[in-house]
Amino acid sequence: MREFLWGAATSSHQIEGYNDKNDWWEWELKGNIEGNARSGAATDHLNRFREDIKLAADLGLNSYRFSIEWSRLEPQEGQWSDEAFGWYKDLLSECEKHKLKPMLTLHHFTSPNWFAKRGGFTAPDAPNYFCEFVKRVIHELGPRIPLWCTFNEPMVLLVGSYLGKFMPPAEFSPLKFSQACQGILKSHQQAYELIHNQPLRSGPWKDNPIQVGIAHNLIDFYADRHWHPLELLFTKLLRKFYNQAWLDAITGGAINFRIPGFIPGPKPAVSITPKGCADFIGINYYTKAYVKWRPRDKAEGISPDFPVGIAFSRRKEPTSEVGWAIHPKGLGRMLRFASHYKLPIYITENGIADKVDKMREAYLTSHLAQVTLAIEGGIDVRGYYHWSLLDNFEWIKGFGPRFGLYEVNYETFERKLRNSGKFLKKTILESSK
Ligand code: FCB
Repeated sequence: MREFLWGAATSSHQIEGYNDKNDWWEWELKGNIEGNARSGAATDHLNRFREDIKLAADLGLNSYRFSIEWSRLEPQEGQWSDEAFGWYKDLLSECEKHKLKPMLTLHHFTSPNWFAKRGGFTAPDAPNYFCEFVKRVIHELGPRIPLWCTFNEPMVLLVGSYLGKFMPPAEFSPLKFSQACQGILKSHQQAYELIHNQPLRSGPWKDNPIQVGIAHNLIDFYADRHWHPLELLFTKLLRKFYNQAWLDAITGGAINFRIPGFIPGPKPAVSITPKGCADFIGINYYTKAYVKWRPRDKAEGISPDFPVGIAFSRRKEPTSEVGWAIHPKGLGRMLRFASHYKLPIYITENGIADKVDKMREAYLTSHLAQVTLAIEGGIDVRGYYHWSLLDNFEWIKGFGPRFGLYEVNYETFERKLRNSGKFLKKTILESSK
């Protein structure tokens, strides 16, 4: 039987601390985060990574998904930090010591300031810079890495940066959306080739085939009013634009991110060989969304200039602490949808904001049941990564939402296993019997 990967996921900026050379840090300083929070020391993972990797292993996991911080590795254009590479090498050694197969994410929302200032992925030469970074990573760490995500949630990054304004540079510009989309696609494609062409492999997983993909956010969209023609139309459109377009593009299908009259089609367009550039589909799944025509609640607008909005739950529906509906069936639907691409699937993120830990165990049970059903139905799901190992800096929402299997005390940085963490550990143990 093929080994199933049980993992937890994190990202550099959310846990490491003092990533002060990236675009988020600067944006935080301008007061854009709820409660005027700043990532600051985050969870102090920079100093506590040995302990944290051990905590991951203590859960019985056999894999760990983390991201590397480009702005630490290349704080100024063309200047590389041996110290930062050294730190990631030590992190990898800890993973190896504890038999946690690493899944490395190259870009998880943050970009170095120098790169962001020259337009980020909207700049026509952005892929060259990204590829220089990838080459360095391959040189320094690559031989030891079997699993790669080039980008975390490119769609969320694009919507947040250029439509919804919840990520830096928080501009409303469908044109820039389109340019950055092309830039990221090209960067992904080139990184895919570079990673596959690396000649050397080493470490405990050197005989594993290299697998490269993206971690893609999928939302189970519904029309808020099932009789409303425009809501039905936009639901269809969002399923295609938000859920499908990226997966089509990287698997050799159509490249089409255009929305007539709203998102322009780029010229010249990136083309990808029909065989595509993905060895797996990574799914980040959290919730459903109701598509609303002219929402009354302003917060539900996708952008100020667009008459369509989104709500992540309805009144009285069970939700997480950030108001996302708890909707396990959506995970099953998304797995069935992703299975059409005929590639292995990893659930690269799934979890719930639940500080007092009263919902996470049931959330795990119901979502893992969907994974089991999918596997029994013949879908090639190869792993499940829970978001997150630790409570952490939840982007624009600051430190409020608590997604961790381990609770973090932000005064002392002490970690404490939640009961749901114990439950996951038991589940993993039982699954291997
Ligand atoms: C995902 C992000 C991750 C985390 C979770 C809650 O969209 O990839 O960094 O913020 O949501």
